[in-house]
Amino acid sequence: MTNLAIAAHGLHKSYGDKVVLDGIDITVPEGTVFSLLGPNGAGKTTAVKILSTLIGADAGDLRVGGHDLATDPQAVRASIGVTGQFSAVDGLITGEENMLLMADLHHLPKQEGRRVAA
Ligand SMILES: Nc1ncnc2c1ncn2[C@@H]1O[C@H](COP(=O)(O)OP(=O)(O)OP(=O)(O)O)[C@@H](O)[C@H]1O
Ligand SMILES: [Mg+2]
Repeated sequence: MTNLAIAAHGLHKSYGDKVVLDGIDITVPEGTVFSLLGPNGAGKTTAVKILSTLIGADAGDLRVGGHDLATDPQAVRASIGVTGQFSAVDGLITGEENMLLMADLHHLPKQEGRRVAA
């Protein structure tokens, strides 16, 4: 069976009485590229914030990297990387520098960081 990077079922989120995510399902197999598209205000950023543990969901069976968001958010955080839409340095540094930054953020020793970046 394919491992799933993201397995979200029945994801609900409201801000006050405004329903933003009304029971959505997302299934993303490991090793794939997935694009979540929708009009402005559709709830894309809200979904990403929830799946990256920055804010809580109201309901849903949510697993990222095989870890349950509700019971093991720290394991989720240890298994993901997130790049912001605006507050990012991607355009300012090279691809290699990006890789080295990620290695640093994962606390790899310098030499090991250079090895995996290469
Ligand atoms: N903290 C908040 N409090 C109240 N409403 C919010 C909050 N964050 C987002 N919203 C509302 O929730 C809805 C979904 O917003 P969200 O930012 O998730 O959409 P989006 O799909 O990422 O939009 P965009 O394409 O503009 O980035 C919008 O109506 C937005 O105004
Ligand atoms: Mg957004």
